[in-house]
Amino acid sequence: MHKLGILLSGRGSNFLAIADSIASGRLRGCEIAAVVSNLADASGLAAARARGLNAVAIEARGRKRAEHDAEIIACLRQHHVDLVCLAGYMRLLSPGFVQAFPQRILNIHPSLLPAFPGLDAQLQAFEYGVQVSGCSVHFVDEQLDHGVIILQKAVPVLEGDDAPTLAARILAQEHIAYSEAIARVLSGRYEIVGRRYLLKP
Ligand code: GRF
Repeated sequence: MHKLGILLSGRGSNFLAIADSIASGRLRGCEIAAVVSNLADASGLAAARARGLNAVAIEARGRKRAEHDAEIIACLRQHHVDLVCLAGYMRLLSPGFVQAFPQRILNIHPSLLPAFPGLDAQLQAFEYGVQVSGCSVHFVDEQLDHGVIILQKAVPVLEGDDAPTLAARILAQEHIAYSEAIARVLSGRYEIVGRRYLLKP
């Protein structure tokens, strides 16, 4: 049984979508071993606690990044986590964190990367005037929103949209995409060639 570690900083809707996929049997062979937040009052953490999951706050305030990350790594190891899923985790990982879980950290980003990395991706896309946007699940490397892309889903930008309606349409696809990407990675049936993620039969 694979053990997932979820890192979040906010409402945790992607975390909940993953938890629901596992509970309904759509995502098999794994369980959520720990939910960690850098913010003790993240509502995603309360939701994890309400579901009886190990929910841990590890505050970053006043600490060096590497030291904070080391504590999170220790927590993940303690719970035997073998796949880390960033789900609205609003801090950059130190190189040491990335190296501690090589090709075993995933992130979801609300744009079709490499377009619109960073904060407020949906607003960036909307204001740029793109007619198609979406979400990307990718491996985490040492650059922001940069690692190998595992899966993307596109959504149209519609006439009457504003940034929040576009964000909601993207979020609905995020909730589907993340579990699919986790299943792909856990299956082990892929290879990475350059930047390309290739599914093996
Ligand atoms: C999502 O839009 C995700 O793509 C981004 O942060 C947001 C987190 O939302 N990385 P939630 O906390 O999962 O609801």
